Amino acid sequence: MVRQHVNPLSSIHQVPRPLPPPEGLFARAAQPLQLDIGAARGRFLLEMAQREPGSNFLGVEIRRPLVEAAERDRQAAGLENLHYLFCNANVSLEAWLQALPAGLLQRVTIQFPDPWFKTKHHKRRVLQLNLLQAIARALANGRELFVQSDVLAVIEPMVGLIEASGCFVRPLHDSRPWRHTNPLAVPTERERHVLAQGLPVYRVLYRRNDVDPPPLGEGERGADNPGSSLPPP
Ligand SMILES: C[S@@+](CC[C@H](N)C(=O)[O-])C[C@H]1O[C@@H](n2cnc3c(N)ncnc32)[C@H](O)[C@@H]1O
Repeated sequence: MVRQHVNPLSSIHQVPRPLPPPEGLFARAAQPLQLDIGAARGRFLLEMAQREPGSNFLGVEIRRPLVEAAERDRQAAGLENLHYLFCNANVSLEAWLQALPAGLLQRVTIQFPDPWFKTKHHKRRVLQLNLLQAIARALANGRELFVQSDVLAVIEPMVGLIEASGCFVRPLHDSRPWRHTNPLAVPTERERHVLAQGLPVYRVLYRRNDVDPPPLGEGERGADNPGSSLPPP
């Protein structure tokens, strides 16, 4: 049985995992890379990878059984531009992103992240300041960060954090405050479910600007502030 939610702050999820060398993940490791954080069962990336063979796709997910199932699907489909990795994005991604060759990362997506509604659980939400700064350091000028959710109370603080960083702009064509349509060709599983119920989806496509985020190690992580620096709702 796959657990519905995993507490990313539990001790078993605090161990950083190594990033395998890109040549072990993709047949053509130099291709542009798209990263999906919280890939779940991976069907979004499975379809994206088939549609865009000239890009590589990496899905990261904290629930290991989902990663294993997604990897089985990938192998059955014979896709060599797609890989799923088990990790806690808040623990492993900072180093992984730093290790990527400059300019390789084209787009990061965070789609329908777990809401963790209770205020005392907000620090379990995936988009925290340290992760955002790591994403900003890894994305070159003009590259994309796409976020979407069906929960305003989740997307609004994400948007607040992203915009407070100063490192991202909303392209002028974006309809404010939210995009009406998904700029990507494939909806996620959660997105299909929400749209089938006729419920709204809140989306923003950001583009990286030329503002430098703080260098690694100069974020706000500390004993009293474990990287959970979302502005108050
Ligand atoms: C609500 S699901 C959405 C899945 C998919 N993006 C979609 O739109 O259908 C959120 C996913 O993020 C994963 N997740 C939550 N926290 C995470 C973390 N710290 N690191 C990696 N994955 C995480 C959850 O296990 C879950 O599969």
